[in-house]
Amino acid sequence: MKITTLIPEEEILKRVKELACAVSDDYTGKELLVVGVLKGSFVFMSDLVRSLSIPTRCEFMKLASYGGGRESSGKVRVDLDLSCEIKGKSLLIVEDIVDTGLTLNELKRLLLSRQPESIAICALLDKPSRRKVEIEIDYVGFEVPDRFIVGYGLDWDEQYRYLPYIGVIEDAG
Ligand code: IMP
Ligand code: MG
Repeated sequence: MKITTLIPEEEILKRVKELACAVSDDYTGKELLVVGVLKGSFVFMSDLVRSLSIPTRCEFMKLASYGGGRESSGKVRVDLDLSCEIKGKSLLIVEDIVDTGLTLNELKRLLLSRQPESIAICALLDKPSRRKVEIEIDYVGFEVPDRFIVGYGLDWDEQYRYLPYIGVIEDAG
């Protein structure tokens, strides 16, 4: 499998620091609850939270898309839920990539029903050409083309999450 670098490590780290600055500015004086969507966001989230300058609590959720196949169906099953109440709290959902937007749309709907004070979304990557539902992303790292992306947490069949850079698979079809 040939992987070509799309975004080198130094560029990712620089951008993640910029995102962390923007988040820290926007939430000055508040306590932020950062919610990472597993597994794809774990690398991004660990770099992001270490560059924040505000008190932060970290939580994770793991979602599975119903229906199988490679396309997300829009119906999500919660495989791992938050370990705390979120009523009245300021949430930042951290996601690796927004593709169709269906997963985040469902997640936001689910979390809003628990009455947090606010929910913002921070996605490292945005693939807008594939969007099926309109969704507001408050903080975006990079816009990417309609290619299969791997590395820095993102996988292809559970492979390549460990790559420190973001790449595209050349022969994914
Ligand atoms: P959505 O519901 O279509 O937006 O699905 C988003 C999820 O699909 C992401 O959180 C990723 O886990 C996965 N995904 C979408 N595009 C890619 C890609 O290019 N590479 C790796 N995973 C992807
Ligand atoms: Mg994901």
